[in-house]
Amino acid sequence: MEVTLKRGDITTGRAGAVVLGILEGGAPLDGAAAAFDRRLSGAIARLRRRGDVTGRFLETVVLYPAWPRAPRLVLVGLGRRAELDAARVRLAAAAAARRARDIGAGSLATVAHGAGRGGLNAEVAAAATVEGAMLGAYRFTAYRSDAGARPLERVELVERDAAAAEAMAPAVARAAGAARATCLARDLANTPGQDLTPDGLAARAREIAGLAGATIEVLGIPQMERLGMGALLAVGRGSPHEPCFIVLEYSGTGSRAGGARSRTVEVAVRPGARVPRRDPRGDTRRDARLRVSPARAPRETPRDTVVLIGKGVTFDTGGISLKPRENMHRMKGDMSGAAAVLGVFSALPALALPFRVVGLIPSAENMPGSRALKPGDIVRALDGTTIEVTNTDAEGRLLLADALGYARRLAPAAVVDIATLTGSITLALGHAAAGLFTGDDRLADALIAAGEASGERLWRMPLWDAYAPEMRGDTADLVNSAAREGGACLAAIFLRHFAGDMPWAHLDIAGMAWAGSERPHEARGATGFGARLLLEWLSRRASAAATPTWGAAPASSAV
Ligand code: BES
Ligand code: MN
Ligand code: ZN
Repeated sequence: MEVTLKRGDITTGRAGAVVLGILEGGAPLDGAAAAFDRRLSGAIARLRRRGDVTGRFLETVVLYPAWPRAPRLVLVGLGRRAELDAARVRLAAAAAARRARDIGAGSLATVAHGAGRGGLNAEVAAAATVEGAMLGAYRFTAYRSDAGARPLERVELVERDAAAAEAMAPAVARAAGAARATCLARDLANTPGQDLTPDGLAARAREIAGLAGATIEVLGIPQMERLGMGALLAVGRGSPHEPCFIVLEYSGTGSRAGGARSRTVEVAVRPGARVPRRDPRGDTRRDARLRVSPARAPRETPRDTVVLIGKGVTFDTGGISLKPRENMHRMKGDMSGAAAVLGVFSALPALALPFRVVGLIPSAENMPGSRALKPGDIVRALDGTTIEVTNTDAEGRLLLADALGYARRLAPAAVVDIATLTGSITLALGHAAAGLFTGDDRLADALIAAGEASGERLWRMPLWDAYAPEMRGDTADLVNSAAREGGACLAAIFLRHFAGDMPWAHLDIAGMAWAGSERPHEARGATGFGARLLLEWLSRRASAAATPTWGAAPASSAV
């Protein structure tokens, strides 16, 4: 989908449909709605008086004015002004875009909902409008013989005021990038397990890294053996599709001259193992408008590394501890964490980050093949910890254990893992928020704030020492599964062992990665949850790195 921002008058543009937001309540129409109303001799005002158009949140009404440049008008309810916020704008824009798509409009033009009388900041409103429209129009049609109504191919945001349009541009570009990242993550997680095995995931990761200007290395079985990734290897043993470990590296482009170029990812490995190579590419800044200006040079040192780890189980049968048959097909989405990380990488060039980002994706298919891991087997993780596998269905934490061990060797400034880890988190939080586990209050606050801003919500869960004894083993150091009660917390405390003293957070997205019912911005199926949240967190971290009140200033900095 193409997204454009145009300065001009929406009543003179050309589009398959024009979308106008309508506030609930008696206030007269304003902005674009008023302008259109005038052109239509008061038709919209009449419909409001009659009660056919109320502006109730998410109400959509389609008009077919005799208006050659815009044959369809979609009026979408924004609800009451007092309740209007970015999240509501996102949802309203999504509902309208879906409606426009379903009536075959092909393209839409709209204004930033909520920016005028709605009282929202114009950039926030513009970003939420674009993001909502892109998310709402998404459909996964790769396997349909009849794809249905034609897709929405173009979204045009129109702004009257030149200065406002200019101010909106970077926010719109970032929003479009983030929504595209979400749709990419959805595509990956919706793809059946037959067509997205670990090597298939690695192939997609290669494409994405290539487009984004990131380096990538995919470790196969021999390399993982040399590194001692016994836990990840064990999970992959029951499948004919070999496991792999994907390492992506994006060198920040927003740092001062030379900084980004000279960096390498250095991993202490046993002899014979290969280390990820440094980034050979040139400058990949795609959008000069999004660059961090030299005046805001980062205070985070150029060598700082942020690690994102995504669970990449391409299908989870449970293994020998086989899952029940109901809804097992959804386990094709057990690589949603990996999909979110790949979505993030696809959008990184627009962020100009002053630090490097390393993505780690441990990938395996959890199958009950004849060589499969058995309950009672003991595996040795990369850091030397032995784990008795009491349940082969608790496979995610096994592969994350090795990824965390690998991350420790990068001495990162922060590590976030994202995983469809436990059914238990859904019992706790339902489908309203993902679980956040961390012992680091600053990291927690930053992630929660990014969640609120992106509309991908997090709720902090406990990571108390009290959970630890349950995960201790009799025959090995740890067990991978214990009581049902507090299952999400037990999984998190298991991971904490491998995170050691890194600044680390764990996101359990099992309740958020899959939409069982339709919402305006989410079709049924994979949601792509996490990509927008993590992009928001990274870009906030980048701005924080550039403000004088945060972090230690390098000795040579001239402020
Ligand atoms: N992939 C599942 C978790 C999951 C469940 C994701 C439902 C999405 C929807 C994970 O590997 C798993 O099977 N977890 C077990 C852990 C248990 C065996 C300790 C669970 O939650 O039941
Ligand atoms: Mn499982
Ligand atoms: Zn799983």
